[in-house]
Amino acid sequence: MRKTLPDDGRGWQAIEREMLEFRKDDVDWRNGRMPFQIWYGGDDIFDVQKKAYTLFMQENGGGAGKAFKSLKAMEDGVIDFGAGILRGPDAVGHITSGGSESIFVAMKAARDWGRANKPAIKDPEVVVPFSGHPTFNRAAQYLGLTIKRVPVGKDFRADVPAMAKAITPNTIALVGSAVCFPYGVIDPIEDLAKVARDRDLWLHVDACVAGYQAPFARELGYPVPDFDFTVPGVTSISADLHKYGFGAKGTSTVLYRNADFEKHQPFEFTEWPMGHFSNPNVASTRPGGSIAAAWAVMNYLGRDGYLKLNKRLMGMRDQYIAGINGIDGIRINGTPHSLIITYSASSPDVDMNVVSDEMGARGWWIGRLVQPPGIMLGLSLPHEPVREEYLDHLRASVAKSRTTKTKAKAAKASY
Ligand SMILES: Cc1ncc(COP(=O)(O)O)c(C=O)c1O
Repeated sequence: MRKTLPDDGRGWQAIEREMLEFRKDDVDWRNGRMPFQIWYGGDDIFDVQKKAYTLFMQENGGGAGKAFKSLKAMEDGVIDFGAGILRGPDAVGHITSGGSESIFVAMKAARDWGRANKPAIKDPEVVVPFSGHPTFNRAAQYLGLTIKRVPVGKDFRADVPAMAKAITPNTIALVGSAVCFPYGVIDPIEDLAKVARDRDLWLHVDACVAGYQAPFARELGYPVPDFDFTVPGVTSISADLHKYGFGAKGTSTVLYRNADFEKHQPFEFTEWPMGHFSNPNVASTRPGGSIAAAWAVMNYLGRDGYLKLNKRLMGMRDQYIAGINGIDGIRINGTPHSLIITYSASSPDVDMNVVSDEMGARGWWIGRLVQPPGIMLGLSLPHEPVREEYLDHLRASVAKSRTTKTKAKAAKASY
């Protein structure tokens, strides 16, 4: 039965009780049961996020720089920090509501750059590795672009020669990920950038996951291939603050090599009663809280804070990798560059769908990989104390798979 709005309002305590009750069937992410969607850096960061968010919760990011100079100051600060981390001395950009919006507006900018610079192209195409986020296709549907997906190589990274072959006279842009969600690897951005330069194409790097993580891992000595503005030919980068930047949900950044590329992002309009309307974002009203929380968390952590946190997280990741590779019958896919790892069967008698079902029955929410069948894990602090338990359950699930005659149903999407 549909609910109707209550005639009389209720007190907060009763409301809070009911809201907490809604949570009872949620996945227990605080105890590391959730492999993605939660990227948690600790209660202290959460506290800073909350305080900063509520301080600016009523202010509207749509008025940043006009009514709300505060939000503009913080947004500019965050973009400056981002440009520093992604090593773009002339980089400019914007805060968006998330990775999907960052990709969307970058594709809009690429399309309009194509219209300005390649006017003969009427049906623009973008070449994306198979591992690229679905939002490239979603944005393409909205924007009138055609996406060409190209299978990845044996190392699960973009196959650059194959992508070069997929370029046609209609191609305006290439995409690479750093890291891609399904495999956690950074595509060969330097090679992609060379193709982009040679063919005069826009190159977007989707660093939504690792844009604010991999640079710190590199600084700690981990082998992280260059994917940022130090690579000539990289035109735009999407990098999420609400993942490993540890901002509040609803915060990402999109950066361009320079203002000449960024100028294609805003929507400009005059044909209505209130004159010139200009907006770089998809939404008009934007939460001031998410801008404030991002600025506050970045200042709270500083470079040193990100380094310390990443040292802990990457160390934990290495232990997960060693633990998983130590289980007979499964192995890590490729060489992960960040905190996402995925694994698949290395033996024909292990059925990853059975393993997934078994892990699910033991209370773990499973990130199911379909090609190849496997499991993904996006690690953050809640996964630290449960590592041994996870590995024990995984060992038992793999063993069960070997003795299970009936095959599990094909993987169900879990994302
Ligand atoms: C590589 C990559 N790009 C883009 C996105 C979309 O980001 P969002 O969920 O913030 O819209 C994700 C989400 O996980 C991602 O992993």
